[in-house]
Amino acid sequence: MGEWWRDGVIYQVYPRSFADSDGDGVGDLAGVLARLDHLVTLGVDALWLSPIQPSPMADFGYDVSDYCNVDPLFGTLADLDRLVAACHARGLRLVLDLVPNHSSDRHPWFLDSRGGRGASRRDWYLWRDPAPDGGPPNNWLSHFGGPAWTLDASSGQYYLHSFLPQQPDLNWRNPAVVAAMHGVLRFWLDRGVDGFRVDVIWLLVKDALFRDNPPEPGAAPDARPFARQRAVHTADQPETHAAIAGLRRVLDAYPGRMMVGEIYLPVERLVRYYGGALDECHLPFNFQLLLCAWDASAIAGVIREYEAALPAGAWPNWVLGNHDRPRVASRVGAGQARVAAMLLLTLRGTPTLYYGDELGLEDVAIPPERAQDPAGLREPGRGLGRDAVRTPMPWDASPGAGFTTGEPWLPLNADHASRNVAAHHAEPDSMLALHRRLLALRRATPALVRGTIEGVAAKDGVLRYVRSHDGRRVQVVLNLTATEREVGVAAGTILAATTAGRAGTVEGDVRLVAHEGLVVGVS
Ligand code: NOJ
Repeated sequence: MGEWWRDGVIYQVYPRSFADSDGDGVGDLAGVLARLDHLVTLGVDALWLSPIQPSPMADFGYDVSDYCNVDPLFGTLADLDRLVAACHARGLRLVLDLVPNHSSDRHPWFLDSRGGRGASRRDWYLWRDPAPDGGPPNNWLSHFGGPAWTLDASSGQYYLHSFLPQQPDLNWRNPAVVAAMHGVLRFWLDRGVDGFRVDVIWLLVKDALFRDNPPEPGAAPDARPFARQRAVHTADQPETHAAIAGLRRVLDAYPGRMMVGEIYLPVERLVRYYGGALDECHLPFNFQLLLCAWDASAIAGVIREYEAALPAGAWPNWVLGNHDRPRVASRVGAGQARVAAMLLLTLRGTPTLYYGDELGLEDVAIPPERAQDPAGLREPGRGLGRDAVRTPMPWDASPGAGFTTGEPWLPLNADHASRNVAAHHAEPDSMLALHRRLLALRRATPALVRGTIEGVAAKDGVLRYVRSHDGRRVQVVLNLTATEREVGVAAGTILAATTAGRAGTVEGDVRLVAHEGLVVGVS
């Protein structure tokens, strides 16, 4: 079995947008299954599927109305079983998204809970009396704009929702909720699922006293209201760790399973989510490359700080893109996107790759009438919509890009006739080819998988580090600028380059062209 989540590479699929088998314009499980060989030839090890459970889709699956089933839009439980088997037959692992912080407001648990103050599941959610003025119980705000409280007129109480009103927060202080969620984990683990990406795991428990959040002193006056508060009482509560350790105990009863937690926190607080005895998340997602400036010194600083903060025995991980953040190619530019891929796939730790980034897919302009994401629609004008990063995977140059025979739920990338899997497959220096080469090199090079990382440094816009294992050293030099640089390298052989035609041996001073990165096997 081994620890695949240490040695492997995770590939995130947003199921609505990967492959549509039935022409309704929305991706589905049969579509994913039909495209599984793309993951194999790409060279990744695990597939993480964003939520596939039944959902009214107020937040596109992050509002679950039945934790133990598959939404008909995506298929059936039998399709999921087939996908698990097909993944395993190809040596791939399957990781599901688990959304335990909140359910849909249509979940039977919430329908019961909102039945009245005496409802049997009243205490499964967070209900509070109004403030003396009749307004919300405290000043907590929703991540998606507006108050985090909605009044239920029939009972006269408010319920908490950290996100949409259609996503009521579960009460993780209630042992019945904890037990029910453990049952959900077992349901999927028994079906052979290899692990979970756990949604907003650092938000699970809220302040027992429901105290107001204080203002954020550093916030810009025009920042969105949510950013003008410090989430002192709504995030990263000490009790969260016990809740996560409980989830981990359930996983640990099954061999070879893993949990990766979604956590946006500064490094010193993030690494606590490994657990004091490494008994919480196998991997607390490390989003620093998504958030830091694209600058050699900044990234070197981030790597050093993260490596230094990791508890003994904790395994690192890195992320360049996900369904909530701008596409890496849009953020850093097409040239740097190749450098970014080399960085992600040569750093120490498990990489998570977002579907489409292997093609250099960019944020797609969404005409206002096609905007769908509630995060954008609820706070217009702030650029918060995430549709641009969730557009269909372009497979070929056909009208539906091989994604669908119907009308895609979000627009295709305008350049899909040339930026698609088939076109990149035929082109030896394409972004896809670069990813395949880097992933193959990584798989074949123990120094890149298990090696230490040393000599992390930045100078003149060039980032460098060395990975070592069993006396074998691999040096990485990355030009993060758009102009030429000269760098000194140890004598060795070029194992991979972001630029075409770069091969052979190097020694001493080497010229890097703009946006060039090299992986050098030190002689
Ligand atoms: C984090 C998810 O990544 C995001 O897509 C979702 O909207 C929120 N959690 C709420 O579940």
